[in-house]
Amino acid sequence: MLATNSEVLVTNSKAFKVVLLSEYKMYFDLAPKTKKEDLYGMDFTVDSLVSYLKDPSVRMIIIKGLRRTGKTSLLNVALEESTTPFLKIDVRESPYYDRTEFEKDLILKIKETVGEPLIEKVLKRISGVGLSYKDVEAKLYLENKTIAISSFFAQLNTELKAKKKHLILAFDEVQLLSKIKFDNPLAAIYDNYSCLKLVLSGSEVGLLDKFIGRKDGDAPLFGRGAIEIETKKLEPEQASQFLKEGFAQLKKSLSLQEIKEVLEQLDGIIGWATLYGWFRSKNIAHKTALLKVTKEGSKLAKKELESFLNNRNRVAYTMVLKLIAQGHNQWGIIKQQFAKKDRAVSDRQLDLYLKELIDYNFVEKVDPVYSVPDPLLVRALGQ
Ligand SMILES: Nc1ncnc2c1ncn2[C@@H]1O[C@H](COP(=O)(O)OP(=O)(O)O)[C@@H](O)[C@H]1O
Ligand SMILES: [Mg+2]
Repeated sequence: MLATNSEVLVTNSKAFKVVLLSEYKMYFDLAPKTKKEDLYGMDFTVDSLVSYLKDPSVRMIIIKGLRRTGKTSLLNVALEESTTPFLKIDVRESPYYDRTEFEKDLILKIKETVGEPLIEKVLKRISGVGLSYKDVEAKLYLENKTIAISSFFAQLNTELKAKKKHLILAFDEVQLLSKIKFDNPLAAIYDNYSCLKLVLSGSEVGLLDKFIGRKDGDAPLFGRGAIEIETKKLEPEQASQFLKEGFAQLKKSLSLQEIKEVLEQLDGIIGWATLYGWFRSKNIAHKTALLKVTKEGSKLAKKELESFLNNRNRVAYTMVLKLIAQGHNQWGIIKQQFAKKDRAVSDRQLDLYLKELIDYNFVEKVDPVYSVPDPLLVRALGQ
């Protein structure tokens, strides 16, 4: 296939990379996208995000949206296009459960971006000790927890300012950092260090809002101005266009009936459409491809739900979700159904269940109707 050929050639020749990668778009690659031409229908959003990334008066950008609607892809592409030094942390892959470990990891990654000499300078300044050999300062930080991360950022900012440089710190799935209270250092960065800019992204919208202080006046990031971008499901027309263009890239076509079935079963979630297209690119027939996506997708959606249900009232939460998925989608009706099934639920409990499900983006509410936005989670609940 073309994309595979281009990958091979990239390793052999830089000249080929330019020609081939700019000629061939590839919507149906499964990894989050990193190149603008591979990102469907987002040119305008990418361009605005890039201009915000370059605008020194914008200190914080939030990207939120349902799982698999393209947040990471948008973030990757805009960071690349911004031509500003950046550091992106996928919080899920970092030691987000341990503050010291996380800070260590962060500093090492900043070092990779800004270079060792600058970090050595920063660490030397804050440690106040002039140690001569490589990496000793980093070790000093790692072993001596008395050096606060805030001094590190303060000194880093001073050094960047002296060099007239900016650094973007992007945290993907940032809400996970609430466990280690990393919102405090982020608020300090926002308030004090003008050479550092924050980009925070997350799927669990309510938690993200909580993390950035949208809901709580006591939260460290409360009241800070930010640009907010939301990734959404595609409208049927857009989803159908995405599939058509993706197939054209593969030099294949798909029938209107096939498009109709994909939209019916996968809705406008671009991540599921991409997975379907990827199977088709491997010469798997329509029905089988769709079956594979729904099967694998429901499994994944179920796994995400499982980790949410741990340490929660599993029976009650599952029941609320199932009721909504079956169309019992208003507060009073859900409450009635609980009574019908001989399960007592107080108003406060039901409010809490719904609020939590919304916070984690398993449920959406367009007053007064609740819904489960991911069709493959609906399917998983029916099994
Ligand atoms: N605009 C887009 N064009 C093409 N593929 C996309 C687009 N947005 C997302 N994808 C694909 O969908 C899947 C999910 O995207 P991702 O960026 O990981 O979403 P999120 O971070 O919101 O969960 C990936 O396979 C990605 O390549
Ligand atoms: Mg993501």
